[in-house]
Amino acid sequence: MKAEVFKKNREALFKHMEENSIALLFAGKAPKKTADEAYEFTPNRNFYYLTGIDEEDIILLLVKGKEDQEILFIKEPDLELEKWVGKSIRDNEAKERGAFEEIQYTKDFEDELHSFMFKEGIETVYLNLERDSYTQRATLEEEFAKKLKFKYPDKEIKNIYNEIASIRMIKSKEEIKYIREAIDITVEGVELLMKNSKSGLKEYELEAYFDFNCKRRGVKDFAFKTIAAAGVNATILHYINNNSEMKDGDLILFDLGAQCEYYNADITRTFPINGKFTERQKEVYEAVLRVNKKVIKELKPGVSFKDINDKATEWIGEECVKLGLIEDKEDVRKYYWHSIGHSLGLDTHDVGKRNVEFRPGMVFTVEPGIYINEEGIGIRIEDDVLITEDGNEVLTKNMIKEAHEIEEFMK
Ligand code: GLY
Ligand code: MN
Ligand code: MN
Repeated sequence: MKAEVFKKNREALFKHMEENSIALLFAGKAPKKTADEAYEFTPNRNFYYLTGIDEEDIILLLVKGKEDQEILFIKEPDLELEKWVGKSIRDNEAKERGAFEEIQYTKDFEDELHSFMFKEGIETVYLNLERDSYTQRATLEEEFAKKLKFKYPDKEIKNIYNEIASIRMIKSKEEIKYIREAIDITVEGVELLMKNSKSGLKEYELEAYFDFNCKRRGVKDFAFKTIAAAGVNATILHYINNNSEMKDGDLILFDLGAQCEYYNADITRTFPINGKFTERQKEVYEAVLRVNKKVIKELKPGVSFKDINDKATEWIGEECVKLGLIEDKEDVRKYYWHSIGHSLGLDTHDVGKRNVEFRPGMVFTVEPGIYINEEGIGIRIEDDVLITEDGNEVLTKNMIKEAHEIEEFMK
């Protein structure tokens, strides 16, 4: 990613900050896994969005005072440790990657922070406070907020999460380039596994073709844990065991995504394990596909997510009536109980309010589904769509989705 992109992101954030304030963002730290092993580190996405840096323990300080100031605090090189774990980022690299002018070491962070708090008349401290649930463990930022409140009780602490989220919702050309790349690799992986589908395999054996494709294309991580759900398993939305046998005559649902430069793809395709739909499977498949296409047609600037989500639920309800599943479309929740999509970007379920009006540069998934437990049929068809000035572009357009195309492809 070009360093200028990160600089621009910081400039956008400065506009949201009050006078005499600072914002602090932390890269984060990988949590312990077991014994002396840690989970793989992944940077806090808001930190990454503003810095382009993906190393542990780094801190970004933005100052909106008499003049705007940006300081990135990196770790002082530890040459002994580096013999074991490799080099940490150097100041010239950090400058280049995120277009920074001032780099300091984290060992000086507290003194530097104090001098701003004490001398520069800072009144507000913004932190990136994200809380998913009441029971979630305290985040690094929440722990830090506690310390700040104790040491500087006269300063106000504010959350800057929503401001960053609103900027992140609109993707730049550079960002879309990486989403496209993640999609391209995902499509290639899905095609590879479709070609290798046959009954008798375990779900994970087919999943392995996608993993292989990601690995050979240099993907470091997935957008999320792959869902490889054959037969009735596809009626469990977040089925991730992926260890059942694939049976002749069943469908298999794959919901997966590669990640490039932390930008994600999120695609679902459902296809017959043996390459040929049964009449009933095709009937349900066509119903889901009609809704997928109808929703995509509606996506354009000015339309609200809520409206389209309500319409999609109604359309799926109507399809369920036609399929003989329910008599009243209001009972649709028996066969479809999620929402029609979500924003996509640095996070798979990307930041930002759910109830937004679409604007050019936003990327949303469209993922209608019908899940019929009693028939062992679960079908979802998920595309990734970029909102443009005059409508939208289906970023996943190269991934086949017509029933006859799938049968042709798998012959
Ligand atoms: N796989 C997560 C989703 O489609 O939202
Ligand atoms: Mn998905
Ligand atoms: Mn999705």
